[in-house]
Amino acid sequence: MDDLREKYLTLIKDVADEAALEDLRVQAVGKKGEISLKMRELGKMTPEERQVAGPALNALKNEINSALAARKAAMADAALEERLATEWLDVTLPSRGRPAGSIHPISQVTEEITAIFADMGFSVAEGPRVETDWYVFDALNIPGHHPARAEMDTFYMKTKDEAGNPHVLRTHTSPVQIRSMEKMGAPLRVICPGGVYRADYDQTHTPMFHQVEGLAIDTDISMANLKWVLEEFCRAFFEVEGGVELRFRASHFPFTEPSAEVDIRCSWEGGTLKIGEGDDWLEILGSGMVHPKVLQAGGIDPAVYQGFAFGMGIDRIAMLKYGIPDLRAFFDSDLRWLRHYGFASLDQPNLHGGLSR
Ligand code: PHE
Repeated sequence: MDDLREKYLTLIKDVADEAALEDLRVQAVGKKGEISLKMRELGKMTPEERQVAGPALNALKNEINSALAARKAAMADAALEERLATEWLDVTLPSRGRPAGSIHPISQVTEEITAIFADMGFSVAEGPRVETDWYVFDALNIPGHHPARAEMDTFYMKTKDEAGNPHVLRTHTSPVQIRSMEKMGAPLRVICPGGVYRADYDQTHTPMFHQVEGLAIDTDISMANLKWVLEEFCRAFFEVEGGVELRFRASHFPFTEPSAEVDIRCSWEGGTLKIGEGDDWLEILGSGMVHPKVLQAGGIDPAVYQGFAFGMGIDRIAMLKYGIPDLRAFFDSDLRWLRHYGFASLDQPNLHGGLSR
């Protein structure tokens, strides 16, 4: 046993690497290892012999196991020491940074619009995109047979609300007029931005697009207020010094009386669009004085209150402001397009670690 101890402790001490150490372990205390085989011989001994040899062999096995473990730990320490001595890390290097996400142009324009109207005392109201035909049509003075229902290329759902009104995807943000009147009463000053849906698809139409509704109700509201608010808005939004000239064209909406469509002055010289100059006109919104029946549907007394309302295409004015020719590109999620218009960061890691833009 002393020879065995001597032999293995020496071998363990001199072993070159972890693989050789493992070989040694197998050779000594593995299933068929030298010490294990010796332990098997215990069975053939007399009880007296076994009483001496048993504990001694066990002690030897433990000793060898400890020596193996100690040597393994020492080799791991040495390997770590060596890595620490040879490898190094420059903690002064700038971080790799991350490509920064950025806000979508439609969201950005919606925020710009919201901020401008907030300055004029308008708060933001929202309504559901899955509406009922009551809010989208009937409450807005568009009865069942009215051609506007067909004209708007409505997406109808198979479901109905508790009162039996069919669900539709809202075709405009005007239903939020009714919901705001119901919720807040008069006087009232809100804008209602959000997605709307119509079955339509070409360069200037997508089945989902965005509108912002404006609604002001009080005891002395007139078309003059509507005109001033829209002029203020266009001056701020299009950032044209001296403001942008607007043209109010008589029009018809079932939910306003009188009604006007509003165009802005622009020029297309050399194929590029310039807002606020030139001889062309671009339609940007529909508007008018809220129809008495609509006030009534919203629970507001038309004998006491009047209001103006307008509905503007957010995507449309974003296209105008940023000179974007195709509406569909807004919803393609093409990073190259977003980058081209400055709406997305570059993929390049930013060596300064901050947000890249
Ligand atoms: N809802 C109308 C549309 O989508 C726009 C509008 C809103 C017109 C408010 C008048 C008043 O075309």
